[in-house]
Amino acid sequence: MASRYHETYEAWRRDPEAFWAEAAAEIDWVKPWDKVFDPSLGGYGRWFAGAQCNTCYNCLDRHVERGRPGQPAIIYDSPITGAQASYTFEETLERVNAMAAILVDHGVARGDRVIIYMPMIPEAVMAMLACARIGAVHSVVFGGFAARELATRIDDATPKAIIAASCGIEPGRVIAYKPLLDAAVEMAVHKPDACFVLQRTQAPAELTRPQDRDLGALMDEALALGRKIECVPVEATDPLYILYTSGTTGQPKGVVRDNGGHMVALKWTMENHYGVEPGEVFWAASDVGWVVGHSYIVYAPLLHGATTVVFEGKPVGTPDAGTFWRVIAEHNVVALFTAPTAFRAIKKEDPEGKLIGDHDLASFRTLFLAGERADPDTLAWAEDKLGVPVVDHWWQTETGWPIVGNPVGLGMLPVKHGSPTVPMPGYDVQVLDDAGHPLPAGTLGNVVVKLPLPPGCLPTLWNAPERFHASYLEDFPGYYKTADAGIMDEDGYLFVMARTDDIINVAGHRLSTGAMEEVLASHKDVAECAVVGISDSLKGQAPCGFVVLKAGVNRPHSEIEKELVALVREKIGPVAAFKLAITVERLPKTRSGKILRATMRQIADGAEYRMPATIDDPAILEEIESALKDRGLAV
Ligand code: COA
Ligand code: AMP
Repeated sequence: MASRYHETYEAWRRDPEAFWAEAAAEIDWVKPWDKVFDPSLGGYGRWFAGAQCNTCYNCLDRHVERGRPGQPAIIYDSPITGAQASYTFEETLERVNAMAAILVDHGVARGDRVIIYMPMIPEAVMAMLACARIGAVHSVVFGGFAARELATRIDDATPKAIIAASCGIEPGRVIAYKPLLDAAVEMAVHKPDACFVLQRTQAPAELTRPQDRDLGALMDEALALGRKIECVPVEATDPLYILYTSGTTGQPKGVVRDNGGHMVALKWTMENHYGVEPGEVFWAASDVGWVVGHSYIVYAPLLHGATTVVFEGKPVGTPDAGTFWRVIAEHNVVALFTAPTAFRAIKKEDPEGKLIGDHDLASFRTLFLAGERADPDTLAWAEDKLGVPVVDHWWQTETGWPIVGNPVGLGMLPVKHGSPTVPMPGYDVQVLDDAGHPLPAGTLGNVVVKLPLPPGCLPTLWNAPERFHASYLEDFPGYYKTADAGIMDEDGYLFVMARTDDIINVAGHRLSTGAMEEVLASHKDVAECAVVGISDSLKGQAPCGFVVLKAGVNRPHSEIEKELVALVREKIGPVAAFKLAITVERLPKTRSGKILRATMRQIADGAEYRMPATIDDPAILEEIESALKDRGLAV
């Protein structure tokens, strides 16, 4: 079929407001908008100003009321515990009502924040929807972060309540969440009124603090009473959630998502980008702690009336590299969305893709990859072994949905390996030089999006409008800075090459090298340090820390390096995957004192590098190379 992409993109370009107003007809509104777009509001304007709506109503109630009460909304598949469960839209609604009742009973109201600290269990999704139901603003914190990171988020979001589980489960170890939660609450200045804990049999928690509540027991009570809480109408422009993501410093950025525009954009993508019909099963193998989890485990599939899969496991090792194929076959998944790193892990364990043949993948139509650059080898392997289209698409926590993709629903465009394809309607993507001038096709530059951003993208940062402006809008007036560098080719295909800031991408997880440097610098023996992301065949990138010790420190370097690895794990969390600290005599710098991180990265990757003209002392690069060679790198 000929793609309708070009005509659709042109329709958006001709009249963006008419385009989004038409898309908004797919959503149930309590009150229609006064203006589709009001340029006078917020940092760059606001979508659907004056409208009122409820996201939970659109995800659940309307499907129960209109023909889908008995269809599964959530399929829970947990190879790590052996558990499986399925909840229809009606059952999900009952549980969300119960959770909403518990929140209301504890004084949580519209506009209050609630932190959710849970692993991949259905209650995590229900907790998010319960907040949405009562107009509370959730902030989900990924389980792989340490207590200090959780504390930072508690102090920034100042939640009235925290909803947690007693533990998460990683291959080979159970992670008790309650001690982490208690430590975080202890560390934080702000104290939540209530901590609801869902007891899991693998590691029940002691609920001894005055604010502790047993979530399971309260749920049972509320369910037995058939408690129902009406959806609270909120402004389309009110925040639905805050999701913290790495910035260039240790203080994460609280990306704000609104209610109205978010629903409109996500609903549009399900049909037009992902090519999924209501009633079908869509699976995003990510985590609710990341944006992919928010958008494509929870909100988009449910808004669309599709079934979502909550998968508690890993692509390999739970129990093997065939898990993904089993889940697809068992639950009739039509589309899978994951990060390329998951496929690199599978390819490593099962290079021939033999385990694929053990399962009937007749339902499976499309594989979507995002979160990091999809390397052409992995892409080609997936295409070859699965025999379905593999769609790379590019987006960010900030945008909440694809900026650039290949619209399966509108009809796919030819694939060019290495490119996530073309801008989606809503995004006028351009490539500019550092001074803000447009660059010709084929030239590497700063990827920016002409303002306004479309519905669903962040309107601001929580409690930090100035930081929002400084981070995204200041460098290229009139544009949103993506902080990615890329190339647009003659056909309008974008190739996303690298970040232009200190963010690295480890196993599809976005991490700040600046935050890791702050931790290393806090060690008593460290004089200065630099963290760079070096190539890793499985995780894409891995952090590598170079440290210069203070004069007079004469303990064995290996001992200090071990302490540094442990310190990053303790302060940021295991998700940082920081395993390599290397002691060096000096760091290479420019004459003005800037550390040459990019050059160090190139040396570590064994890539060609040019001696920076401004380098202070070229001999230091040889020292770095030799330190790396001692660790088997830089070859
Ligand atoms: N809670 C606690 N710890 C967690 C965690 C969680 N939710 N998630 C990860 N961790 C831990 C891991 O156990 C690991 O600990 P270790 O250092 O003791 O081994 C560490 O954090 C690093 O995790 P990760 O980078 O994920 O590496 P891994 O070796 O455990 O797994 C992959 C590698 C590729 C299998 C894994 O990253 C994966 O499944 N990726 C899928 C893609 C994805 O989820 N992307 C998110 C955005 S789409
Ligand atoms: P996150 O906010 O965690 O989704 O990370 C966003 C960043 O991940 C982007 O700015 C890119 O650097 C990178 N990224 C995400 N998807 C892709 C992709 N398909 N290709 C290249 N880089 C990507």
